[in-house]
Amino acid sequence: MYRRMASKALLSLSLLSLVAAQSPVWGQCGGIGWTGATSCAFGSTCVKSNDYYSQCIPGSNAGTTTTRTTTRATTAGNTPTAQTGFEEVIGEGSFSSFSTFWNYFYPWGSDHNGSARMKQDKVSVSGGVLTLRADRLSSQDGYSTANPKPAIWYWSGAVHAKSTIVINDQFPNYEIRGEFKAPTTKGTWPAFWLTGTQSWPPEVDILEFKGTTNNWFNTFRTSSDVSTTQVTVSNAATTWHQYRIWASKANANDVTVHFYVDGVWKGQHNAAGFVGKPMWLIINLQMEGSSGSPGPGGSTTYQAQKVYVGRSRAY
Ligand SMILES: *[C@@H]1O[C@H](CO)[C@@H](O)[C@H](O)[C@H]1NC(C)=O
Repeated sequence: MYRRMASKALLSLSLLSLVAAQSPVWGQCGGIGWTGATSCAFGSTCVKSNDYYSQCIPGSNAGTTTTRTTTRATTAGNTPTAQTGFEEVIGEGSFSSFSTFWNYFYPWGSDHNGSARMKQDKVSVSGGVLTLRADRLSSQDGYSTANPKPAIWYWSGAVHAKSTIVINDQFPNYEIRGEFKAPTTKGTWPAFWLTGTQSWPPEVDILEFKGTTNNWFNTFRTSSDVSTTQVTVSNAATTWHQYRIWASKANANDVTVHFYVDGVWKGQHNAAGFVGKPMWLIINLQMEGSSGSPGPGGSTTYQAQKVYVGRSRAY
């Protein structure tokens, strides 16, 4: 496995080394057989993971985290910090200037893969907090126009960011995060996620609860090739928790996505083929579907605050 990683990284580095003698943030910077750059981009430090692999880890405390697996961090505190040239795309106060940063609904309309149809009046903002409310209907409102076309039993809320996210040579790193109170009862399906504007996949789920207290971090490379890191979050519905990704261009085609809850690293996925593919950022409260049915008979709320999108600008 490490052999494969090393040769893949080598290939990308031979292209990269034409322009840079340093490894990018999260790039390989050493290990047995490694002939590429051993110095790291500004703001990151070369940290040994094992004899075959060292990696450029951002942040001044980088040296404290040396062990990683693809599903779970074994130590806390692996927190990237902003890079030189980092710019804010969506600031923490964006909901207070809603129409500057956000649109109502999904980018494609009101319906998706669960039993909720989105309505503008199920979305409200107060004191910088976005609230999406799903209400059970007393009679069915037809069927969703989106696959798998479930019966509509709720009216709920969805919003999406006006700016799209694309990881490429110009914007090689993105940080996306927010604090959420997300329902976890059966039949509630809140999400904070990225999905391709021109194709599907790409998809990255930063927050997705499917009727349990487990958050599903998912990266869809194809409909059947998916990485998932499940994290149990206690009091997810009643306490603010921060959900975060750091996505970096790993080579000409692939993005590496790191996942965090409350600042603690939980895993990393290879978002193969995501470079140059623009994505929407969506916050929605879907119902039933993958989260089970029947869903709640009354109202359910899903809240967000301090949503932030930032990126590094290479030129
Ligand atoms: C359904 O939508 C959720 C986001 O609400 C997304 O994470 C999931 O991948 C979608 N599932 C399918 C099968 O389309």
